[in-house]
Amino acid sequence: MKHAKLLASMPGWSRREFLRAAGLSVAGLSLPPLLGGCGSDSGNGRGGMPPADEMAQAVPLTVDPDIPWWLQNGFGPVFDELEAVDLPTRGRIPPELNGLYVRNGSNPQSGHSPHWFFGDGMLHAIRLEGGRAVAYRNRYVRTPLYLAGHGFDTRMPPLGGNNQSNVSVVWHAGRLLSSGEVGFPHRIDPRDLSTIDAYDFDGALMTTSSFTAHPKIDPATGALHFFGYWVFPPYLQYHVADASGRVVHSQDIAVAKSSMIHSFAITEQDVVFWELPVLFDLTAALNGADNPFAWQPNYGARLGVMPLGGLASDIRWVEIEPCYVFHEVNAYRDGDDVILHVCRHDHMFDHDDLPATQLTLRRWELGTAGTELTFRDTVVSDRELELPSHDRRFTGRANRYGWAVDSREHPDTLDLGGIALIDFVSGEVRAWDPGLSRHANEAFFVPGGAGEGEGWLLSLVYNRADDATDLCIFDAQHPDHGPIAEIRTPRRIPHGFHGVWIPD
Ligand SMILES: [Fe+2]
Repeated sequence: MKHAKLLASMPGWSRREFLRAAGLSVAGLSLPPLLGGCGSDSGNGRGGMPPADEMAQAVPLTVDPDIPWWLQNGFGPVFDELEAVDLPTRGRIPPELNGLYVRNGSNPQSGHSPHWFFGDGMLHAIRLEGGRAVAYRNRYVRTPLYLAGHGFDTRMPPLGGNNQSNVSVVWHAGRLLSSGEVGFPHRIDPRDLSTIDAYDFDGALMTTSSFTAHPKIDPATGALHFFGYWVFPPYLQYHVADASGRVVHSQDIAVAKSSMIHSFAITEQDVVFWELPVLFDLTAALNGADNPFAWQPNYGARLGVMPLGGLASDIRWVEIEPCYVFHEVNAYRDGDDVILHVCRHDHMFDHDDLPATQLTLRRWELGTAGTELTFRDTVVSDRELELPSHDRRFTGRANRYGWAVDSREHPDTLDLGGIALIDFVSGEVRAWDPGLSRHANEAFFVPGGAGEGEGWLLSLVYNRADDATDLCIFDAQHPDHGPIAEIRTPRRIPHGFHGVWIPD
């Protein structure tokens, strides 16, 4: 799809602004914008980059017990909205990477939030062009809550646009959407990250349906499959938007209570839900609880399979052992079986102890041939792998490769580590060890070849040694070799959640 060059040609971030930031005069303009001052080394200027040995030095990860872990170290919020051009880079940015990387995360404007998940959404974007990192910008998502200065308040229902919009970004049908856990997404102008409005798909979501942070684009049709959950009936709804972004199908999924359903999966012919025992507690919410969701394993846990784009009445469920799953790697059909790879936590939100859960990568096989679904659970890896990604050209199709952040055990915080490739055929996990002072975030896959898994990974990596963040680019087949390019952003970027790549 052709569209205006993102973060480069908009009124809000004008050529004049770029030139001012770069110390160049408009009157003297003779070079193309954004290229002046880069030098002649393919954007690989070293200005601002510390030497490699300094970047590798280890700094112990200590946690101040008087401050929530999500408000300190690499998680702490930043408050200014910056712009920069010609970002200093070590290594070589593949010249084929032309587009915009955008990443969302939780960043409370007040400096406080009751949980990592409940800060205001802040977007960070870096534009790559012709082997150069030409621009950076960050902006808060201007949700009604942000504009009112409210922050998170469980006594205010996250209805419609009243949500933090802090989890993910979605690029579909020429629209950039930021999404929270519940409520409507917000339309974002990719040219300057400004917020356009809360978006209800032209009324299709009405008032009580939400938009998941993890919709799926069917690579065969371009359709956007998504769901929303909500704290009052109907608790769960499934929607399909066609390739133009028009909602063409909606179904209410019958579930007994409102549970936190963070993601779901599709195959070429199925939709897969997981209903797990992290339940919404209305009384706790009305009493102003920090987190209105709680671990209630007696509710049980189950997986549901229904036809892709089909009827909710055709959904079938199978009970599983209580656990919690935020994220799947991918799902696909293998004959009558649905194969689903997930990052499985053995519990969640029982003491608000997110770092202490047992986390394993699992292969879940759902047999669909008989009248009853069957379930088989296999451990793929006992490494602490989360924030998984896959080659989205193979969403719902058999995939050999996945990637994830390889966390390290720490008693008091999330100690995000390097980036790991998971080879689901060989069972091999190839991980980059970044050293103790560096912490990777989600690695977004960008295609760079015809085959599955051929391309690059983009990940924001925070370095505590110099309190700075680099956008690191990896060969997707060899993240264990370390970054092929490290782009220094003009400020620390707090650890966040999910990103997207918008190609030119
Ligand atoms: Fe997520």
